[in-house]
Amino acid sequence: MQPKTLTNKEKIRLCSGATQWDTKDFPNAGIPSVKVADGPHGLRKTRGKGDNLGLTDSHLATCFPSESLLAASFDTDLAEKTGSAIAAEAASAGVCTFLGPGANIQRNPLCGRNFEYFSEDPYLAGHMAAAYIRGAEATGVGTCLKHFACNNRESHRMTSDSRVDERALREIYLTPFEIAVKNGKPSSVMSAYNLLNGVYCSENRRLLTGILREEWGFGGLIMTDWGALNDRTEAFRAGCDLAMPGGSGYGEAEALSALHEGTLSPEALDACAARVARFAAEKSAALRAHPKTYDPDAHHALAETIAAESAVLLKNDAGFLPIVPQKTLVIGAMAEHFRFQGSGSSKVHAIRTESFLAHFGAQDYLPGYLPDGSGDDALLREAMLRAKTAKNVVVVAGLPERYETEGFDRQAMALPAGMDRLIEAVASANPNTAVVLICGCPVETPWADRVKSILWMGLSGQAGAAALAKLLTGEANPCGRLAESWPLTYEDVPCTATWGKDRCEEYTESVYVGYRYYEKANVPVRFPFGHGLSYTTFSYSDLRCDGKTATVVVTNTGDRAGKDAVLLYAGMTQDGMHRPLRELKGFRKVFLLPGQSAEISFPLDERTFALWDGGWKTPRGIYTLQTGSLSIDYATGTDEKRPKDASWYAAPHGAPNREDWLRLPRIADKAPSREGFSVNSTAGELAAVSPFTRFALRCYDRVVAKLFGRGSADHLWLMTMANECPLRAVQIFTGLKGNAALRVAAYAERKRRKRGH
Ligand code: BGC
Repeated sequence: MQPKTLTNKEKIRLCSGATQWDTKDFPNAGIPSVKVADGPHGLRKTRGKGDNLGLTDSHLATCFPSESLLAASFDTDLAEKTGSAIAAEAASAGVCTFLGPGANIQRNPLCGRNFEYFSEDPYLAGHMAAAYIRGAEATGVGTCLKHFACNNRESHRMTSDSRVDERALREIYLTPFEIAVKNGKPSSVMSAYNLLNGVYCSENRRLLTGILREEWGFGGLIMTDWGALNDRTEAFRAGCDLAMPGGSGYGEAEALSALHEGTLSPEALDACAARVARFAAEKSAALRAHPKTYDPDAHHALAETIAAESAVLLKNDAGFLPIVPQKTLVIGAMAEHFRFQGSGSSKVHAIRTESFLAHFGAQDYLPGYLPDGSGDDALLREAMLRAKTAKNVVVVAGLPERYETEGFDRQAMALPAGMDRLIEAVASANPNTAVVLICGCPVETPWADRVKSILWMGLSGQAGAAALAKLLTGEANPCGRLAESWPLTYEDVPCTATWGKDRCEEYTESVYVGYRYYEKANVPVRFPFGHGLSYTTFSYSDLRCDGKTATVVVTNTGDRAGKDAVLLYAGMTQDGMHRPLRELKGFRKVFLLPGQSAEISFPLDERTFALWDGGWKTPRGIYTLQTGSLSIDYATGTDEKRPKDASWYAAPHGAPNREDWLRLPRIADKAPSREGFSVNSTAGELAAVSPFTRFALRCYDRVVAKLFGRGSADHLWLMTMANECPLRAVQIFTGLKGNAALRVAAYAERKRRKRGH
C-alpha cells in the first residue's frame, strides 16, 4: 500500500507512534491506528498511558513460563501453543501485535534479561522462536521478533557497541533471527538499542536492509526498540520504518530538511511509510476478524503443562525424587512467596497465582531465610535443627527479583549468600535433601555434591507452583533439558574479561559461546547444555544417515511413561578451519510408554555442516553425527579445506585471545564516536559536569526509593535507566518536542570545554 495522498511531512509523521503503544491514523488516506503491547511470556497491555518499564498496572493476562524455561522443553509444539495463546489474549484486548519473542543469544549467564531469551544455542533459539511466531501469526495477530541484533547485555544497553567478528555474527548471533524470520514469518522485527560494530542497529542499513530484507526476504515492518532511535534520517536510509514510542517527533524536522536538500531519497521514505501503512491496514483487518474471547482456564492449564515439561531435573541420586509430601520438610521463603516471572517490560499481571505449599500439601514448612532472599541466623538455626529429625527435606531457593531484571545485569552468578549457607547447613544436617531452584538462568551451586537432588524450575509462570508440586511427587515426570550451560563458577565463562566493563563490548570468544567453548577448551561445567534427567530411563540405538536424514531409535527402558528430548549434534574433526567440536542440528521430543520404542528422524539441510567463510560453506571432509552416546561418521562437503589454523580458536587455552580475535574477518568497524557531549550522552555522564543533573538525579532517587522501596528491583532498574538513558531517549520518552536533547547536549559541551575537562 502506497500512502500517496499523504504529504512528505505526513509520511514522516506516520513513521513514528502516536503514543507509547499506538501508531498514528490518517483517516483521509485510509490508514488506521493499531495498538501493540508487550510480550513475550504473556500480554502486558498497560492501563492508561502506560510505560515500557513494567511499572504501571496492566490488564490481567496469563503469565506463561519465561522463554529461558520454555526452551528447555525442546518442544516446538509447546512454543507454538504459547504463541497462539498469547495471540488470543492480545486479540481479546484489541492488540494487533505483541512484542516478542526475543531471540538474542544467552552469551553470558549474568545478562539481566537472559530469562527473556531462549538459549545459548542459535539453532534451538531460532526454532523455538519460529514455532512461537507461527502459532501467533496463524491467528492473524502479529509478533515482533526482538532485539535485532547482538543485544546481549543490559548494562548501558542504549549506548553500548557490540563488536562482533563476521563468523560469530553469522553463526551465533544472526542465525536464530534468520531461522525465525524464514520459518516463522513474523509481521515485524524490533531493532535493538545497541550499536553493532559502530552503527546503531536502528540505522544499520547492512543489518536491516542488506541482511534482514534482501538476504532473508523479510517483508514486514521494522520498528525500533522503545527510545532506540538515534537519527531519524539515518534510520529512514537504513529501512527502519517505525520509531517507537511516539509523541516527541524526535528527528522528524531534520528528516524533512534532508528530503528537501536531497540527502534523503523520497524512495527511502516512501518505502518506510508504505510498510507502516500496510502493517496498520493488514493488522487492523486481521484483528477485526479475530474472535475476542479466550478460555483462561485452558491457558492456565497450558502454562502448567509447559512448566512441568520444561523444568530440568539436574541431579537425582539413587532416585531420591519423587517424594511423599507427608514426610517432607519444606524450607525456603520462596516456597511460600513463589517467584514465577522476571521484572521489566515483560512483567505480566497474572490472572491467577497459586500456592506451592497448598499444591504440594506441605505439612511442615519453615522460611529458612527472609522473603527478600537475605540470610537470618535465627531462621538458619531453626532450619538446621528441624532438618535433623525430618525424613526428607526440600529446600526452595533461587534469585530474588532484584537480582534478575531487565535494565541491569547480575553482579555475580552466586545465589544470595544466605541461601547458599542455608543449603550447606541443611544438607549437612540431613543428607536426604533436595533443592529446587527458582531462577531464569544458571547460578553457581557449590553445594551440588552434598545434596541428593536438584530440580531447576526456571521462572515457571502463573501455574508453576502446581507444576512443581506434581514434579516433586511424581505425578509429572521431568523431561526438560538445559538450553544454557551451567558453569562451575562465573570465572569459567569465556567472556568474563570484557563483558559489561566498557561501552564497547568486544566479543573476543567469537563463535565459542556456551557449550561450544566449554567442550572445545575442555573446561568442566556443573551441568552441560542438553543435560536433563527423568524418573524413567531411555536408550538410543541404530543411528543412521542417508545424506538427507539422520535417524535414531529411542526406547523407554524404565518403568514409567515419560518424554525424552532427543538431540542431534554434528561436528567435524579440526583438520581445516577451526570450529566447535559439535553443534546442535536437530531436536525432537517424544512420549514413550515403558518398553516402547520410536524411530526419530532429523532432516539434514545445506546448513547442517556449514560454517561462515565469506558465505555459507561446507568444507569437504568426514563429519560426525551424534545423539546421546552414539555417533557415526559421514563424508560430505564441496568446499575446499583451509590450511590448519593456529589461533586461540583452534586450541583455546586461558582467556580468549584478543590479538587472534582482531585478525578475524569482520564488517568494517566504525570508529567509536568522538569524545564530548552529544545526544548520546547519558544523565550519569552529564552529572560529571552539571551540579543541576547531580541534584536532579538525587531527587529522583529519593522519589523512586519512596515509591518502590530502596533496593527493590524497580528502584534499581529505574535508577539504572535514569543514569544510563541517553539524552535523545529522554526526549523520546518524555515526549518533549523540538531539539531539546540537542540543546542540553550543546550546553553541557560548552560547560565541559570551559572547565577544560
Ligand atoms: C524493551 C523491549 C520492550 C519495549 C516496550 C524496551 O525497554 O527493551 O523489549 O518491548 O521496552 O516495553
